[in-house]
Amino acid sequence: MSNDELKRAVAEKAVNEYIKNGMIVGLGTGSTAYYAIKRLGERVKEEGLDITCTATSVRSEELAKEFGLVVLDVDDVTHIDVTIDGADEVDPNMQLIKGLGGALLREKIVAAASQSEVIIVDESKLVEVLGTKCPLPVEVLRFGHKKTKYALKLQGCDAKLRMGADGEPFVTDNGNYIYDCEFESIQNPFFLESRINVIPGTVDNGLFLNTATTVLVSHKDGTITKMGQ
Ligand code: 5RP
Repeated sequence: MSNDELKRAVAEKAVNEYIKNGMIVGLGTGSTAYYAIKRLGERVKEEGLDITCTATSVRSEELAKEFGLVVLDVDDVTHIDVTIDGADEVDPNMQLIKGLGGALLREKIVAAASQSEVIIVDESKLVEVLGTKCPLPVEVLRFGHKKTKYALKLQGCDAKLRMGADGEPFVTDNGNYIYDCEFESIQNPFFLESRINVIPGTVDNGLFLNTATTVLVSHKDGTITKMGQ
């Protein structure tokens, strides 16, 4: 199976099994979440489901509307039953790194407000220790960002300002910059998170700890395995 097929298979399984009529659904961001949004649009149309959505990025909100879904601002929904989102790394305890797609702050706010957080990944995202395959994205205020970078580097990483395709710094939906922090590995993610969160100028980081209630993993042999509920 190609990478795209793996993403589509796991996304469709999540939407088919975890979304029920009448739910308020959080929509993730990224190439795997894309397939979930598309499948949800199909189900709403085919089965006449009554589904309200809230999105974790401008990009996902636009996509959802293209697929015919009703999307409300996160502050205009009473609660969120289930959010389906991707991840960049998943460790054996279901701890995650997210944010390579640049939506980590809204993803974290929506995840925190969700009763269930279903993470959909292909097997390439599985790691024994966080930080070993991808950098940790940290969203920072533009004001004083070079000072923030210095403080981030003191945590033992190489912090690189994320650049956009236009050669300018990438700007998030919230008007902030992202530093991609390359660690050799993150042995104690809870400790690191507490250190990063007290750095002035840091808005949030891509460690999603004790957030996922379910992780669905798509494997090259065609199987999909489940961690959690
Ligand atoms: C965006 C994210 C994405 O969920 C993560 O980057 C995974 O994306 P993809 O499914 O494209 O690999 O955290 O901020």
